[in-house]
Amino acid sequence: MITIPHSAQAKLFQDAQSAALEQLERHAPGFGTGFPDDTATDGVYRLRQAPGFPRGANVGWTTGFWTGMGWLAYELSGRGVFREWAQSHYPSFASRMALRTDLDHHDLGFLYGPSVAAFGITGDVRHRALALEAAQVLAERFLPAAGVIQAWGRIGDRADRRDQGRIIIDTLMNLPLLHWAAAQTGDVRYGDAARAHLARSLALLVRPDGSSAHSCHIDLDSGAALRISTVQGHGSDSCWARGQAWGIYGLALNHRHAPGQGARDGPHAPDALEVACRMADHLLARLPDDGVCQWDLALDWRGGQQRDSSASAIAVCGLLELAAQLPLGARGQHYREAALHMLQGLAAGYAAPPGPGRGLLLHGVYSWPEARGVDEANLWGDYYYLEALARVNAGWRSYWRGGGQGGNPAQPGHAAA
Ligand code: GLY
Repeated sequence: MITIPHSAQAKLFQDAQSAALEQLERHAPGFGTGFPDDTATDGVYRLRQAPGFPRGANVGWTTGFWTGMGWLAYELSGRGVFREWAQSHYPSFASRMALRTDLDHHDLGFLYGPSVAAFGITGDVRHRALALEAAQVLAERFLPAAGVIQAWGRIGDRADRRDQGRIIIDTLMNLPLLHWAAAQTGDVRYGDAARAHLARSLALLVRPDGSSAHSCHIDLDSGAALRISTVQGHGSDSCWARGQAWGIYGLALNHRHAPGQGARDGPHAPDALEVACRMADHLLARLPDDGVCQWDLALDWRGGQQRDSSASAIAVCGLLELAAQLPLGARGQHYREAALHMLQGLAAGYAAPPGPGRGLLLHGVYSWPEARGVDEANLWGDYYYLEALARVNAGWRSYWRGGGQGGNPAQPGHAAA
């Protein structure tokens, strides 16, 4: 890929952000308090359809990205239309929590992370209360004997052989909600559960070459690892690109909550930040020229396989977070440059044309093996694309930093550089 001069790259990113905000401004009145499906269909988002629920209902694992884009857009632009749009989703998330609608899974951080953001931005304690409830629901998924958070399915349903005791790499992204709750409440059990899950994920899901497995089943009583598998990757021994991206970003966000991991788990326990670097190196070594990864990194990258733009968008944010966490110096700079190269590829070649209902980023993949959302925009890809642009254009920082205060301290529309 041609490396363009810094000033041209900066303009590309600014223009991409403006286009994204314009597109979101079209969505706000179009969808109102309803939610689109996880992915576009034939290039267009439509109101969510889930059996047994009204159209546009708040179910599934991705609705937080929609609301999260509203808050991000508000932080970037200071425009009330975005704030009101994001705020208008509050009753839906509150009622979902009160009724425990479709919350038997680990994605509580993705769903209620925007509540943490909203609390930081507005100071409205109802958002804080909601996020704390979400952390409690997530913590209830912790299986003490196995030392892990079960990804999917009802806890304690021993007949469910598919999901009982199963962990997935994606969960690393939901652990910051537990650390946030620990900081907010002083209850160390949240942080202990997150640290235990992190340690087991490092041991079971990340391979010595820096690639990752999607999933591992663990015996509920003994805690023994039973088998490695995948749902969305090419195979149990392959490296699903989005899982790898979740891993890089999740480890970068979590590592500072795991000091002493080495002391507790022995001198050879892996350091989360070092593992994140290894995972980043593995992904970066398998990028096609335009910097946008294929849906599974184990596939020959010269083979013209389907890309997953959403994996790339997540990886960009992960690499930028990694660069920010590393000590100042060449190593961090290397990951930042790599992130900019990947973001350039997305902004130059994958940004969706404007239009009603269109996503932000073309050519994402939800699940290739299930032929689901292949070569479409998807909500998480759009969210992390916007976050990546916010990071490089406006110095946006994660909601999960420090004590997890949420929101950026700068004035909306004038985020710190
Ligand atoms: N966390 C689910 C996915 O990435 O598809």
